Amino acid sequence: MIRLVITNARIVTPEGSGALRGEAMGRISVIENGAVAADGEGRIVYAGPTAELPAQLLSEAETTVDAGGRVLLPGFVDSHTHLIFGGYRPDEFQWRLSGDTYMSIMERGGGIQSTVNATRTESARELADKAQWFLDRMSQMGVTTVEAKTGYGLDTATELKMLDAISMLAEKPGQRVGIVPTFLPAHAVPKEYKGRTAEYVDLMIREMLPAAKGKARFADIFTEKNVFEIEDSRRYLQAAKELGFDLKLHADEIVQLGGAELAAETGAVSADHLLHVSDQGIADMAEKGVVATLLPLTAFALREPYAPARKFIEAGCAVALATDLNPGSCFSGSIPLTIALACIYMHMSIEETITAITLNGAAAVGLAESIGSLEPGKQADMVLLEFDNYRMLPYYVGMNCVRSVYRGGRLVSDNRIR
Ligand code: NIG
Ligand code: FE
Repeated sequence: MIRLVITNARIVTPEGSGALRGEAMGRISVIENGAVAADGEGRIVYAGPTAELPAQLLSEAETTVDAGGRVLLPGFVDSHTHLIFGGYRPDEFQWRLSGDTYMSIMERGGGIQSTVNATRTESARELADKAQWFLDRMSQMGVTTVEAKTGYGLDTATELKMLDAISMLAEKPGQRVGIVPTFLPAHAVPKEYKGRTAEYVDLMIREMLPAAKGKARFADIFTEKNVFEIEDSRRYLQAAKELGFDLKLHADEIVQLGGAELAAETGAVSADHLLHVSDQGIADMAEKGVVATLLPLTAFALREPYAPARKFIEAGCAVALATDLNPGSCFSGSIPLTIALACIYMHMSIEETITAITLNGAAAVGLAESIGSLEPGKQADMVLLEFDNYRMLPYYVGMNCVRSVYRGGRLVSDNRIR
């Protein structure tokens, strides 16, 4: 069975089943007048020139779409989000605009802790329903896979409730976006453990990580001054690794602490944020193949300097781009603005940016073998743009160029105005 054939598309895709590093990030394949066919399982069975598409695939297709020469890209992978949360923090945003800092609000018991208070009062169902609203909007911007973190429970029951909410979303029939769960009990030290960070780390190691084993692919930590510093982070990450979690870190976001170096030392899949990374940290990540997940919307929203994307690429690192959608530091899931900021302020080329938000995003969530590029064998997660030129993506600043989105060969979002 052939579920879908798209013809007459300009196929624009990175290639491979792992992250592209350094200058390879800029190597994008362009197939003029291309076609993609997806089978009954939603897998790509053909991606190449329309002229060479086997006639049988076309005749067997349940649905055929003439792309009219428009750009067809792999679905976008948003590899760092805090999708599940209770409440909102608009007041805090205003305080920051008036000169307050993210960390001073957090140290006063606001910030993450205030979202924790709200999240503890909501059911898994309520949290999932709220997150679905965000997922729907992400889908319209071309996102076909999202990573979703816990981290607003900070006690075992609420952290597990967040994982339940994630799995409700992931298992929802016809879900428009694939979801990769990340366990983040180490997002902050909860108020119950104020001044007793090491004891909270003990609790996570003894109780929380074992309880989440098998329910989340990744374990993550906010490695930051006055949150979890290097020694506590190392202890947590080593325990998580022993339990079989793949590792991620919020590293060097607010101050330079050696988070990038620790990511390399512990064999993390990605280190994220990295606004204040050291040169040694970049070198270590390049050597160990840690994906640098850069989150320009957070730097923008916090009025912080952007992460040094060019230094990472020049050092031979793989860079991924993601939104960091969360109710605090960065209440935005805008893929169009992420692309624009990467190109305008982080000096990434549009080709590098496309790789960063597709194949390298897939690598950051451990899925580069099955998604992230338009090649036979991969899942047919695809974004059809309104335009025939992929350079429109950053040029149409902060605006959505997406016409329609396919996940597993099924139309999941259609932005055409009817
Ligand atoms: O990635 N820095 C830690 N975590 C989030 C912010 C979460 C929040 O403020 O609620 C981040 O920036
Ligand atoms: Fe984050």
